[in-house]
Amino acid sequence: MPKILVTGAFGQIGSELIPALQAKHGANNVVAFDMAVKPNSFDVATEQGSIVDLGKLKEIIVKHNIDTVYHLVSILSAKGERDPNLTWQVNMDGLRNILNLAVEYKLKVFWPSSIAAFGPTTPRDLTPQHTVLEPTTIYGITKMVGEALCHYYYLKFGVDVRSMRFPGLISWKTEPGGGTTDYAVAMFYEAVKGSDYTCFVHKDTILPMMYMDDAIRAMIMLMDAPVEKIAIRTSYNLTAISFSAEELAIEINKHLPLAVKYEPDFRQRIADSWPQSIDDSAARADWGWHHEFDLQKMATVMIEKLKEKL
Ligand code: SER
Repeated sequence: MPKILVTGAFGQIGSELIPALQAKHGANNVVAFDMAVKPNSFDVATEQGSIVDLGKLKEIIVKHNIDTVYHLVSILSAKGERDPNLTWQVNMDGLRNILNLAVEYKLKVFWPSSIAAFGPTTPRDLTPQHTVLEPTTIYGITKMVGEALCHYYYLKFGVDVRSMRFPGLISWKTEPGGGTTDYAVAMFYEAVKGSDYTCFVHKDTILPMMYMDDAIRAMIMLMDAPVEKIAIRTSYNLTAISFSAEELAIEINKHLPLAVKYEPDFRQRIADSWPQSIDDSAARADWGWHHEFDLQKMATVMIEKLKEKL
């Protein structure tokens, strides 16, 4: 059984990845690492600290005999624009710490990249795997450089690091924080609360999205794939569904009344710099990726789960 460390454990992805990993590998084989205090809803060994604290990370890896890391700590796109220096430090120094520890302790690493690694000069429809990467947010820059760094550590040190470019992730358990695609999640919350929603991107804004269950399954599939199947060591394109903000509102309206006003802010420019749809045929061919949630199925589950939660 692997001994797994999840960094950024109590964020949007980690909160759902941890129970999935515990179910697969045993509750005691997963260790959570986060700056935040462990929420009561989690039953997992937890270490609290900062991702830039190399000494602390080293101590944790030795103490728990860690051999696999899901490195999820990240400041997202919109929040990143408020403090580019901090974003660089957390996103880049954090990743470099994990990769250096991977060399020293022979760790297998998962690290998520994002559609934010692309920029306005990237083809926006069915964005190819190998294409222009000229991101215009600091978050996107850390993803672009992070991809290159993962590839470099694989080539130079043989680190088994695996990555995928996530689209916007939609989930009910833990809300995202500081991302540009967060409006898609917020729309569900407001609908279930019975409130109106003011959307910070234009109704015609189309972005690639994915339901969290698909994202968790993708991470575990990628990490389980035999090493010879992993042909891409920068980051795999990955996608499920693309829809406009208005199409999402219409879908939610089939279940619940929801009035949406569209008042684009600075995040519109970020959204406009990202692809509308992604060609993820390499992930599908190399390690068998397929998505299971389309817009209808995702909306039905989101509403059902949020009604229970709220
Ligand atoms: N969902 C992220 C964001 O909006 C993109 O990876 O920042």
